[in-house]
Amino acid sequence: MTIAFFDTKEYDRQSFEKVSGSYGIEFRFLETKLTPDTASLAEGCVGVCVFVNDTVNAQVIDRLYELGVKVIALRCAGYNNVDVRHCYGKLHVLHVPAYSPYAVAEHAMAMLLSSVRRIHKAYNRTRDFNFSLKGLAGFDFHGKTVGVVGTGRIGRVFADICRGFGMKVLAYDKFPVESDFMEYVPLPELLERSDVISLHCPLTEETYHMLNSESLAATKKGVVIVNTSRGALIDAEALLAAIKSRHVGAACLDVYEEESDLFFEDFSGHIMDDDTLARLISMPNVLVTSHQAFLTEEALGNIADTTCKNIVDFFKEERCENELCYRCGNGEVCRLGRSGKCF
Ligand code: NAI
Repeated sequence: MTIAFFDTKEYDRQSFEKVSGSYGIEFRFLETKLTPDTASLAEGCVGVCVFVNDTVNAQVIDRLYELGVKVIALRCAGYNNVDVRHCYGKLHVLHVPAYSPYAVAEHAMAMLLSSVRRIHKAYNRTRDFNFSLKGLAGFDFHGKTVGVVGTGRIGRVFADICRGFGMKVLAYDKFPVESDFMEYVPLPELLERSDVISLHCPLTEETYHMLNSESLAATKKGVVIVNTSRGALIDAEALLAAIKSRHVGAACLDVYEEESDLFFEDFSGHIMDDDTLARLISMPNVLVTSHQAFLTEEALGNIADTTCKNIVDFFKEERCENELCYRCGNGEVCRLGRSGKCF
């Protein structure tokens, strides 16, 4: 059972090689991303394994189908880069719904703490034996209000961490859950009342540019924005403008709207063509990490394990509980109960 593994990084290879043998899967590790130009590299494979910045559009899906590929195994939770609807009747899509919500939630808090307490600045200064504290004043989290948008697996862990800091937690979700400490409020109220806003909802048509010039203007002056979810939840130009106007106090971005050609690669020594990203990174109150929130040993191990199990379940058991449902037509996990494959 050979699977073409696109956009391979060293850490992927290590974690997948550790478990693939016991599942009887052979991975063809490819450094290139999956695109219409590279789809043919999957020839002879029964499946492809892809990540967040691979392109799985109609053209790629049709080419993979022609090659006899049966399955797309996402080694991540989000699937906004896959045209799930176009896959119907052609390719089955499996994903890893959860591998470590702690990894992402803890990274969100790490960024928030670093940014507000200026740890990244202090680190650079003390390495130069500059022990001045000028400009390093932050603020206490205790007693502040955090707005959590999307209270699924990651959002709930993040909310809980914030509670541990003594913060008041406001929440907004299309499907609220029972909670004894999160106060669910409509989105406009969350935007208006929060000192910190952290995004943990998926990228959909509805959430695209959820933070834009209008909604950013409705936030508190000095608000800190954290995005570890998907870049296009925020209109990056509007964020930049809100930072330049001193309305947004700080931004912690693990994801960026136009990240797919940049993140995960080393462009040091190159000219940065993306002016918006370059300008954001140049701001003293913007902290950018390159889609790193998932990157813990525990998460990598769980991703490799679940991805392999998904593939084996699909081919040997004729069913996989992590198959995205086409019958629902909206890419959500099937609510009808899974008795077998979707088609
Ligand atoms: P989840 O599916 O458990 O939770 C998502 C929540 O968002 C759900 O409660 C859902 O009801 C809510 N939601 C859906 N549409 C909404 C809307 N229009 N407005 C408000 N809430 C809405 O997902 P999980 O595991 O918590 O992941 C959240 C996101 O984190 C993923 O969609 C993914 O984009 C991102 N992620 C980022 C990683 C990174 O390395 N930076 C790693 C893993 C996930």
